[in-house]
Amino acid sequence: MKGMKINRELLQKDAPIGVFDSGVGGLTVMREIMRQIPKEKIIYFGDTARVPYGSKSQDTVTRYSEQIVRFLKTFQVKTIVVACNTASAYALDTLEQDSEVPIIGVVRPGAKTAAEVTANGRIGVIATEATIDSGIYSKYIRELNQNVTIYGKACPLFVPLVEEGLLEDPVTDEISRRYLTELIDINIDTLILGCTHYPLIRSTLRKIMGQNVTLVNPAYETARELKEMLTELNLLQDTSPELGSNQYQFYVSDKADKFVRFANSIIKYGILSAKTVNIEEY
Ligand code: DGL
Repeated sequence: MKGMKINRELLQKDAPIGVFDSGVGGLTVMREIMRQIPKEKIIYFGDTARVPYGSKSQDTVTRYSEQIVRFLKTFQVKTIVVACNTASAYALDTLEQDSEVPIIGVVRPGAKTAAEVTANGRIGVIATEATIDSGIYSKYIRELNQNVTIYGKACPLFVPLVEEGLLEDPVTDEISRRYLTELIDINIDTLILGCTHYPLIRSTLRKIMGQNVTLVNPAYETARELKEMLTELNLLQDTSPELGSNQYQFYVSDKADKFVRFANSIIKYGILSAKTVNIEEY
């Protein structure tokens, strides 16, 4: 919570949690939050008009993220989860500056787990080009464990494969093999799925990496850290929201119908609708 000026007085237990991503991928993080702290209300924003972030510059991703944070704050959220590895890598430090609302990203929790679980000190990170170029996973892992070698590999084709629904498909197998062979050859024992979409192809990655490599899912670790932080701040919701109270709300910056279809395939909850907002106004 570096640089944040959290004002506990302004934060209400029954306020929603804001979660955002460049598009649909952050739903894998939201799904974990729903599983681990099921009483919480969540406002999800997916920047479907401006996805992907993974090939954009730090300035652009930071500007987009700042707009989304301003939008989420209009709901008086009690915390914000940057459910996008690229936005966490490029924008989190800026977003945290002077924020009176706690903001957490997905990179630090995933890095922490990898630093703890590796036995042979060889950790692989697969992610977007931006996340790999930022070197952020290496930085955080090394802060916790100096006896490690980290191998980053950008896998830009995974996002479109997942969005096309090719989760278990020979094409995905073949591309995964091409990306991952070098990581197998250097004998990593831990692999961080450093992009929101990758947990959705976990079974393919498991098949190719084999049983001896630990797959770290930052979505799971982030939800765990979020729960710990809310507990520490005495902000964890203790009563379930009333029926029909719109516990989960979805906003997007472009066509809502495609988002709703994809969201329903990830979150088996019955998402009724998503609203489109003009995020450039924030
Ligand atoms: N959500 C992004 C991430 O986790 C992947 C999609 C994109 O490039 O915007 O890095």
